[in-house]
Amino acid sequence: MAMGKLEKKFPEAYEICRQFELDEGAMRKIVQAMTNEIYMGLAKETHSTASIKCFQTCVQDFPTGNERGRYLALDLGGSNFRVLLANLISAKEIDVISKTYAISKAIMEGPGIKLFDFLAESIAQFCKEHKIENDNLPLGFTFSFPCKHIGIDQGILVTWTKGFKSEGVVNKNVVEMLREAISRRGDLKVDIVAILNDTTGTLMSCAFQKQNCKIGMILGTGTNACYVEKTSNVEMFPAYQTSTKPHMIINCEWGAFGENGELDFVRTSYDKAVDRESLYPTKQVFEKCISGKYMGELVRHILVELMDKGVLFKDATSQILREREKFDTRFLSEIESDKPGQVRNACKVMDELGVRGTSEEDLLCLRHICQTISTRSAKLAACGLVSLIKKTKVKDIAVGIDGSVYCFHPHYHRLLMENMKLLLKDSAKFKLNLSKDGSGRGAALTAAVYTRRPPSPPKALSTEKQSSSCPKALSTEKQSSSCPLKASAPASMPTVRRFIQKVVWTFRHF
Ligand code: BGC
Repeated sequence: MAMGKLEKKFPEAYEICRQFELDEGAMRKIVQAMTNEIYMGLAKETHSTASIKCFQTCVQDFPTGNERGRYLALDLGGSNFRVLLANLISAKEIDVISKTYAISKAIMEGPGIKLFDFLAESIAQFCKEHKIENDNLPLGFTFSFPCKHIGIDQGILVTWTKGFKSEGVVNKNVVEMLREAISRRGDLKVDIVAILNDTTGTLMSCAFQKQNCKIGMILGTGTNACYVEKTSNVEMFPAYQTSTKPHMIINCEWGAFGENGELDFVRTSYDKAVDRESLYPTKQVFEKCISGKYMGELVRHILVELMDKGVLFKDATSQILREREKFDTRFLSEIESDKPGQVRNACKVMDELGVRGTSEEDLLCLRHICQTISTRSAKLAACGLVSLIKKTKVKDIAVGIDGSVYCFHPHYHRLLMENMKLLLKDSAKFKLNLSKDGSGRGAALTAAVYTRRPPSPPKALSTEKQSSSCPKALSTEKQSSSCPLKASAPASMPTVRRFIQKVVWTFRHF
């Protein structure tokens, strides 16, 4: 059916979709507002009021390509928790074994202690399965929530996002909570050397292969980006003027952009409805416009309004669509994967949902709504990336990206490219690289970078081997972290050992 005809058939739907359109002018305004918030987040004086907080990560060292040995990695950021064992075999090969543990809603929303006991239990199970429970392996913890890092292995949760509401964790040091849960068990020895955000992991993992990778982005259940900043600009970092390391990765936490009203001129009544019904009203405004946790909900709200008006799914049993979160974001990817003008996948999705009796025109209209939401999401993400590229001033830059929306949506990459080109004109060249499993591999790599053990002969891993080719060094700088060591908890043996290693390093190289 020709588009004009569809518009005539569903004028109300087209009118709603027009509210989600973003022209170049609006996008430029958003780039400017994001840039302002980034500067505000970095500066001591304005940090507390900035919506893009730009948290220090304490990650100032990058892979050199000489990292070797076995490392554990944890990945917590959605409804699954993953434990990985990575074997850095050579500068070209990483073997990874991993296992995923589903986190129940009760654990996501229950007492924090239960969450951390669950994590410790999963790690113990995994380590016992692979007979490494007594090996005290260095571990990198990808914890994908806004965190204040006060050391490479110290992170204080600022707020939960993405459906988590576990009590008694906000304002606590999550590494300490994990260490305590592990020691409560008494049957597991691991050495937590680093805590990082999934964007940091994605950047590290991409930088392992591409020297010019300076930005990491996640577009999945949640969204966020990080980038490499000059240490001297990171005013919230106590040693920003004295650090011997020229750079630090900044965790922007751009999902919160809009909390100061910066997106009010583009937000629709549907955005506001999604916000009102969410676990954290008025928070994570940008994330609610663009990420996988919310895109399906936006489509569902539009569908319900059109059903209420009696213009869509007139003869269908569509009650199910009135239930919250029934329309998953993966449906957008599936529906838009059809050839233009086709609705075979839309039909399958409706079948899966148990919606019967839709017409072909209904499904075409549904497809148009999905496209509208995905396109706005990609345009907003493009604005974010452009503001970061401009901030870095790097003229030929690689961006590492991971996350289910970016990975599975059939047109997301193209939409990002088109809109970024439009905004950047010829001011910078860029490449968007899929950085598959950045959070898992990136955590192992970060642990390796911050362990600096003498290379140990790699042991072969037995099952589920996944190889990847790796690194060229991003920087060949010598290692010694200028992040403060542990702030509060008593020094454990691994900490003492790391401290001695750092002192020896510093002594040898300065
Ligand atoms: C979190 C970020 C995370 C992003 C992607 C957001 O909700 O606040 O820390 O990087 O999701 O997982």
